[in-house]
Amino acid sequence: MEHKKIIIAIDGYSSTGKSTMAKKLARQVGYRYIDSGAMYRAVALYALRHGMADTGGSVDEARLTAALPGIAIDFKVTPDGQRTMLNGEDVENEIRSMTVSQAVSPVAAVAAVRHAMTDLQQQMGREKGIVMDGRDIGTTVFPDAEMKVFVTASAETRARRRFDELKAKNMNAGYDEVLANLRERDHIDETRAESPLRKAADAFMLDNSDMTLDEQDALLLRIFNERTR
Ligand code: DC
Repeated sequence: MEHKKIIIAIDGYSSTGKSTMAKKLARQVGYRYIDSGAMYRAVALYALRHGMADTGGSVDEARLTAALPGIAIDFKVTPDGQRTMLNGEDVENEIRSMTVSQAVSPVAAVAAVRHAMTDLQQQMGREKGIVMDGRDIGTTVFPDAEMKVFVTASAETRARRRFDELKAKNMNAGYDEVLANLRERDHIDETRAESPLRKAADAFMLDNSDMTLDEQDALLLRIFNERTR
C-alpha cells in the first residue's frame, strides 16, 4: 500500500545530531532532506564576504535586507551527498567553518532574512515528502507538519560532538571555544524576536543525551509509521 506523503519537521538545539538523524530518516523513507540551517549559513557567508556581517556579531541589517533579492540559495544532489549552492557556487564546506558559525545567529535573527528563507522553504515543501531540520520548522515554516520532533541534549554533550566533528575535518577549534559558541548561539536563537527556537506544542520531545543511534532511529521510524498510516 502506498503511504501518504507527509512533512517531517525536526527542530532543536545545534549539535544534537539533528541533521544526521534527519538525513538518515529521509533516506529510509525515500523523502527529500532539506537542511534549513545551511540556508542561513549561506546567507551569513554572503554577508561576511560583502562586509555586511562579522564574527563579532554585528550585522548591517539594512544592506543585507537590500541585498536579499540577489542571494540565490539552492541544493544540488551529487554522489557526495547534498551540496549547498550560493548563487551557483558550491559553498557546502565553507559554510561549516567556525567563522560562519560565529556570524550566523545574528544574521538568522534579521526579520527579512527569516521571511525570505521561510518562503523558500515553504516552496521546497509544496509537494510534501520532505524532512526539514532547523529551529522553527514545526512552529513557523510548517505549523501543520504531520510529524514534528524537537531534539535536545546537554550543552556539554553537544559541544563534545561538535568538537569531534571539527577535529575530524581538521578544522581548528578548542573545546572551550566550541562550548562558548554553542551557548551563545542557543541564547540568540532562543531570545530573538522573530521565530525564536522553541518546541511546538505538538512536537515529540527527544532528548538524545543518553540514547544510542539505533534506539533513536527505531523511535523515529515508529513515529513515522504512526503518522503515515
Ligand atoms: O543548525 P545549524 O547550526 O546549521 O544552524 C545555523 C544557524 O542558523 C543557527 O544559529 C540557527 C539558525 N537557524 C535558524 O534560525 N532557523 C532555522 N530554521 C535553521 C537554523
